[in-house]
Amino acid sequence: MVLLDGIHSVGVQNPKLRIFDIIMQTPHGTSYNAYLVQGSGKTALVEVVKEGFFDEYVRNVEQVMPIGEVDYLVVSHTEPDHAGTIHRLLERNPGLQLVGTSSAMNFTRQILNRDFDGRIVKKGDTLDLGNRTLTFYPMPNLHWPDTMFTYDSLSRGLFTCDFLGSHNSFEPLLVSKYPDKGEYLKSLEAYWYDIMAPFAQPYVLDGIQAVRELNPSMVLTGHGAVLDELITEACDLYERLSQKPAKSGSHVAVVYVSAYGYTRKLAETIADELHKAGRTVSAFELTEENKAEVLREIDNADAALFGSPTFVNDMLQPIGELLAALHPYAVKGKPCAAFGSFGWSGEAIGNIVGRLEQLRAHTVPGYKVRLNPSDEELEGAREFARGFSAAM
Ligand code: FEO
Repeated sequence: MVLLDGIHSVGVQNPKLRIFDIIMQTPHGTSYNAYLVQGSGKTALVEVVKEGFFDEYVRNVEQVMPIGEVDYLVVSHTEPDHAGTIHRLLERNPGLQLVGTSSAMNFTRQILNRDFDGRIVKKGDTLDLGNRTLTFYPMPNLHWPDTMFTYDSLSRGLFTCDFLGSHNSFEPLLVSKYPDKGEYLKSLEAYWYDIMAPFAQPYVLDGIQAVRELNPSMVLTGHGAVLDELITEACDLYERLSQKPAKSGSHVAVVYVSAYGYTRKLAETIADELHKAGRTVSAFELTEENKAEVLREIDNADAALFGSPTFVNDMLQPIGELLAALHPYAVKGKPCAAFGSFGWSGEAIGNIVGRLEQLRAHTVPGYKVRLNPSDEELEGAREFARGFSAAM
């Protein structure tokens, strides 16, 4: 399928995929986008595809030209859904030169476990294809360290790797043909949360700036829709999502679960005392429905408290899952502590703190009581809250 003058889509659709990379839900499937760029002198592929889809990729390329005659493979980043079949491409085309950032070439070597013909490119380096030139823009940490944009001078198409991608499977790829623009923007937003959120500042904002400066005619993504329109809207959405509210230095997120209300009593008392100490507090009894909101709130807060009863020598599963989903960037250096009621042993508090230390939070000693907190123990919770506030 021709997308722009001399640029063919050679990627593959995976409409049945429901879970991507073990953890991301993909109710609309996904695609592994790849492109063939034909110049008057030389030809370049941009990306290969995931293992299991290579034969279809080869068929797509060979509808245009023999795959053994392609000159270059542009490696936009090396996550194996885009680079995992380079070894198979090299079997069919041993003379192919790979082009990518220094880290992309290093990672490729560690995927292939052998030498290959690789060209390292830096910002502004070019690849002459004859009547068109590809220019490279490394965009480290967007989302991998080796990520790179590639701009085509002839068509003004911009290959953005995973950036501005989305998980959906449809043809003919162009967002202008997508049946429901609202659904598309939702999938774009979900993709930001799943892939780009940890890199919002400064990397996503840098990426947006680069796209705006290059002002492409089309954004050729690594997954889902190709943006032949809505580029401004997509950039605006990414920018809005990536701009975190200014921190007050005084906001505490209190997140807890409570089986019989004892840990809830502690949470409410601690929140009340934090208010009295002049802190703003958002308190959440954690559910599956508010988990995404809670994760954002912890990210935006200046400090966080986690409450859990102890069940079979550990924290309750929802708090464990929340802590597993927390990225280090959300709590690194941030004052954090744990509290909870327990029946006979009380390991939840120490285990929560252990996970917070793995995430490099600034941990503060926690507070636990056996079963239903007495008036004295609730006063202890107030003392704990005052101490926590003082540690902020
Ligand atoms: Fe679609 Fe970062 O791989």
